[in-house]
Amino acid sequence: ESEQLAYKERIKQLLKEKNAVLIAHYYTDHEIQALAEESGGFIGDSLEMAKFGANHPADTVIVAGVRFMGETAKILSPEKRILMPTLEATCSLDLGCEENEFEAFKAQYPDHTVVVYANTSAAVKAKADWVVTSSIALDVVEHLDSDGQKILWAPDRHLGSYIAKQTGAEMVMWQGACIVHDEFKSRALLDLKKQYPDAAVLVHPESPASVVDIADAVGSTTQLIKASQALPNTRFIVATDKGIFYKMQQLSPEKEFIEAPTGGNGATCRSCAHCPWMAMNGLKAVEEALIGDTEGHEVFVDDELREQALVPLNRMVNFQS
Ligand code: 13P
Ligand code: SF4
Repeated sequence: ESEQLAYKERIKQLLKEKNAVLIAHYYTDHEIQALAEESGGFIGDSLEMAKFGANHPADTVIVAGVRFMGETAKILSPEKRILMPTLEATCSLDLGCEENEFEAFKAQYPDHTVVVYANTSAAVKAKADWVVTSSIALDVVEHLDSDGQKILWAPDRHLGSYIAKQTGAEMVMWQGACIVHDEFKSRALLDLKKQYPDAAVLVHPESPASVVDIADAVGSTTQLIKASQALPNTRFIVATDKGIFYKMQQLSPEKEFIEAPTGGNGATCRSCAHCPWMAMNGLKAVEEALIGDTEGHEVFVDDELREQALVPLNRMVNFQS
């Protein structure tokens, strides 16, 4: 406790001294989100993080999240110093979509519009026509589909299938998955729903279709948090990374939030949905990013790649549905 407090105080001081702002994703540990709030920083979904970082006047932005979020911040704001608690924090979707393999996949569909999820490397984004996050993927694909375009989607197959089902768009899909959301199990979720028949089910669309089908609300982290406030239920079963409970509980202290079951090793597991890479963003790592050598913390993106990736990223940032 007191050690945590000491870290927080030192980090707040360092942020001021360095004219730096801390931006955290909803999946980071609770103390990191609290620190972002207390220090005048920001917590958001991946699209909001990108927009906030680009519009904030600080010279240095600390991105507490995973690698693609730091890279996106750098691509949108090359003049800023972008630091991360650790550059090792990657994402299974990014890891599962290697740039040369992606190029070969893309070459098979030359007449398709290439839409990639933000959870990819700068090199993959550089090969795309559009970048989207889960908060606007539906709107963007709807827009492209109404314009008669065929879509190549990568890398998350669950989000892709959800969008294809909702929009009816013609989509070819890369077969990637998020190791956290892929573990949610529909049968165990239905059992839990029987136990709590009054609970509304909130699901992130990186989850399997059988889980999404049970949802009362599907959406990005911010959209799920909004649903937890807007729906009249007092109890919720939530299928996404458990970092999200920090904000849900803070905004609705009177409501009860229950973790949806996952199925690691065949056994039903509760309280297991937490991204191992998001979990690398500890207080110690945040302090280290702010002191001394920035190696291992500072994000760099090759200039040519940056210019190419900026085009589809700007389409996302400027898209109005
Ligand atoms: P959101 O865009 O919904 O915040 O989530 C993206 C994600 O999976 C980050 O890991
Ligand atoms: Fe990637 Fe899943 Fe972790 Fe998000 S939760 S960073 S999609 S592995």
